[in-house]
Amino acid sequence: MAFSLLTFVMAFLSLSAASYAQLSSTFYNSSCPNALSTIQTAVRSAVNNESRMGASLLRLHFHDCFVNGCDGSLLLDDNATFTGEKTARPNNNSVRGFEVVDNIKSQLESLCPGVVSCADILAVAARDSVVVLGGPTWTVLLGRRDSTTASLSTANSDIPAPSLSLSGLITSFSNKGLSSSEMVALSGSHTIGQARCTTFRTHIYNETNIDSTYATSLKSNCPFSGGDNNLSPLDVTSPTVFDNAYYKNLVNKKGLLHSDQELFNGGSTDSQVTGYTSSSSTFPTDFAKAMVKMGNISPLTGSSGQVRTNCRKVN
Ligand code: HEM
Ligand SMILES: *[C@@H]1O[C@H](CO)[C@@H](O)[C@H](O)[C@H]1NC(C)=O
Ligand SMILES: *[C@@H]1O[C@H](CO)[C@@H](O)[C@H](O)[C@H]1NC(C)=O
Ligand SMILES: *[C@@H]1O[C@H](CO)[C@@H](O)[C@H](O)[C@H]1NC(C)=O
Ligand SMILES: *[C@@H]1O[C@H](CO)[C@@H](O)[C@H](O)[C@H]1NC(C)=O
Ligand SMILES: *[C@@H]1O[C@H](CO)[C@@H](O)[C@H](O)[C@H]1NC(C)=O
Repeated sequence: MAFSLLTFVMAFLSLSAASYAQLSSTFYNSSCPNALSTIQTAVRSAVNNESRMGASLLRLHFHDCFVNGCDGSLLLDDNATFTGEKTARPNNNSVRGFEVVDNIKSQLESLCPGVVSCADILAVAARDSVVVLGGPTWTVLLGRRDSTTASLSTANSDIPAPSLSLSGLITSFSNKGLSSSEMVALSGSHTIGQARCTTFRTHIYNETNIDSTYATSLKSNCPFSGGDNNLSPLDVTSPTVFDNAYYKNLVNKKGLLHSDQELFNGGSTDSQVTGYTSSSSTFPTDFAKAMVKMGNISPLTGSSGQVRTNCRKVN
């Protein structure tokens, strides 16, 4: 009796500990007071050198968070005895920015060894990238720890594909606790960065919900066969500025990916897209809130996980 009551109380306490394990904006204030400024300086110089790097760093945080939570799992390298997420379909020959993360990590390891997690570096670098490219800022919550595992199969199943329909996109985000409206706001990330021909070929050759002049212009650099890795900007209007042009493009049937145009194709998200085109502040405000929410997906906190000393390898 006493034993089962104790078991019950302990189970209850550990459950509450799990659900109250909270990230905090001041997590590194005393353990590594210069962590955020170090990340910001490195991100600024990487993005000033190559603006696409801002897009690439933002996407790393997304692809990290959608696979077993924001735990740095994406950063682990494959080796003879370990298969990580880098060769998963959405990542292979596609995700980039690892050298920038390595550079940040090595500076932080000199400054405060073993303190700042790789998962937190991704969250801060995503925010700083958006800011450098003219987007909104937000307070990044911190204290995520790094995984000791990764999942190729979850990366393949849980990162949304550009072939998805609107309902598929809504389900994919809903599986991570994000609403349809947050999905539409987060998709505004495609106001920066590039995509490979293979990800939009079907949309430009076989679909009709695309501006024909736009489709024709894309075909010159994305042949019907071959050129799979040729790049085009996700936002044809202002590819290196974090603005609301992505949504204006959608209303003009100039979404690059099939999945982009799904957000404005006669369905339930049309009005949100239109709203974002007519206000200059709604999209950035919603985006910032949704980024904080995405960054909260299943973090490892407390004594779970570890702080990797090298983001590419479990300690
Ligand atoms: C809504 C579902 C989404 C789909 C289907 C999707 C799909 C894609 C695809 C296919 C690419 C091009 C990849 C390649 O060429 O290999 C891409 C690029 C990109 N995605 Fe998404 N994405 C989605 C949501 C997001 C979200 C939520 C974010 C960030 C919060 C994001 C950020 C980016 C960025 C910044 C790029 C450009 C990266 C670069 O230039 O390096 N995407 N996305
Ligand atoms: C934590 O550090 C940040 C950045 O240095 C500072 O703005 C903030 O006031 C600090 N907060 C606390 C509670 O110490
Ligand atoms: C600057 O960007 C170019 C690509 O545009 C890249 O090859 C180079 O490594 C970058 N240099 C630094 C210092 O990041
Ligand atoms: C990843 O891309 C490389 C080419 O860079 C290719 O050889 C390899 O088969 C791809 N891996 C997977 C799992 O698709
Ligand atoms: C377009 O559709 C045709 C006919 O269904 C198919 O043979 C072709 O592979 C498709 N092409 C692309 C790029 O999706
Ligand atoms: C392979 O990678 C895993 C995960 O990072 C790591 O634990 C292991 O030590 C690595 N093996 C070698 C030989 O580096």
